[in-house]
Amino acid sequence: MLQSPLTRSRLRNQILAAIIFLTLIYFSLNNLLPAIRYNVVPYRHPILLDNAHSNASLETTTTSPTVHLVIASTKADDTSWTSRLTIPNLTILRYISDDPSAPFHPPKPKGHEALIYFTYLHDFYDALPDLTLFIHASETPWHVEGTLLRNTSFALSNLNLPQILQQRHYFNLRVTWRAGCPAWIDTTKTYADYDEAEEPFMAEAWRANFGAGEPVPETLGGPCCSQFAVTREAIRRRPREQYRVSRDWIVDSTWSDAILGRVWEHMWPRLFTDEASDCGHAERGSLCQMYGVCFWSEGELEGTRSCGRRGRG
Ligand SMILES: *[C@@H]1O[C@H](CO)[C@@H](O)[C@H](O)[C@H]1NC(C)=O
Ligand SMILES: *[C@@H]1O[C@H](CO)[C@@H](O)[C@H](O)[C@H]1NC(C)=O
Ligand SMILES: *[C@@H]1O[C@H](CO)[C@@H](O)[C@H](O)[C@H]1NC(C)=O
Repeated sequence: MLQSPLTRSRLRNQILAAIIFLTLIYFSLNNLLPAIRYNVVPYRHPILLDNAHSNASLETTTTSPTVHLVIASTKADDTSWTSRLTIPNLTILRYISDDPSAPFHPPKPKGHEALIYFTYLHDFYDALPDLTLFIHASETPWHVEGTLLRNTSFALSNLNLPQILQQRHYFNLRVTWRAGCPAWIDTTKTYADYDEAEEPFMAEAWRANFGAGEPVPETLGGPCCSQFAVTREAIRRRPREQYRVSRDWIVDSTWSDAILGRVWEHMWPRLFTDEASDCGHAERGSLCQMYGVCFWSEGELEGTRSCGRRGRG
């Protein structure tokens, strides 16, 4: 039977609509669903979880490790969310950079979190807990991955403390490095030619803090953002003097707060480990081992990024 031109054009429209509809379904299934599934209800890998991350590993030790939570904050920040953390044996130390009358405060409101961390490292050197967590004031900074719900509270609650205490000793809470590895910072860059604002400052910062005994590496890399966990053992790899020198270096520096904070982002690994860079652990493995957030394949993990920000580091 012959169709009238009108019917044919309607048919064409219907086919077009069907194609658009199916394409939408396809993209939703590929991009949206994994994001919903993994961002909101992270899948837990049963086998790895048994070995690497479960309450069992915490419960088999009779006493919980002692933990300090060092918060870098300003007066305006609301850090009340930290009081809801249920990590056993946790002591919260809120440093307030712009309040000299606060129980914990740096010598000056300066250097972003770096000066606060060094103030703590120096002052508590002889009274350190088993593990110290260094964080910013916000519960939901972009520094925390979408796979960890961009939620520091969620990340800390799921963090595998025994693994840090027994294996890693220094652990950046952010595990995504992407552009941050293997060589994010080129320390040979000059003020006349650089990609990252802190690059031309790196070599001088390194020498000022680590001295001639530790040559400046040509490149540095790792996850960004200066939120991490460190054991007492890792902090005491260096003498207390180190933390005084680095604290005073920030206090005396004429550089901007932003640059001071940024150069330290790239030097924490060297402060606490033998390595200058923090590129040795793949993101998917770390998510599973350290947070119990596991993906069967790289493709699955990639799928969670389609809706999120593609940040560096
Ligand atoms: C771990 O222990 C906490 C507190 O005892 C409990 O609320 C939580 O459900 C446990 N998680 C698992 C995965 O067993
Ligand atoms: C907390 O740490 C102290 C000192 O190590 C220990 O004696 C105590 O049993 C711990 N508390 C818990 C609840 O594990
Ligand atoms: C962050 O995660 C914690 C623990 O999973 C949850 O209680 C809290 O509501 C979350 N906060 C936000 C702002 O989503």
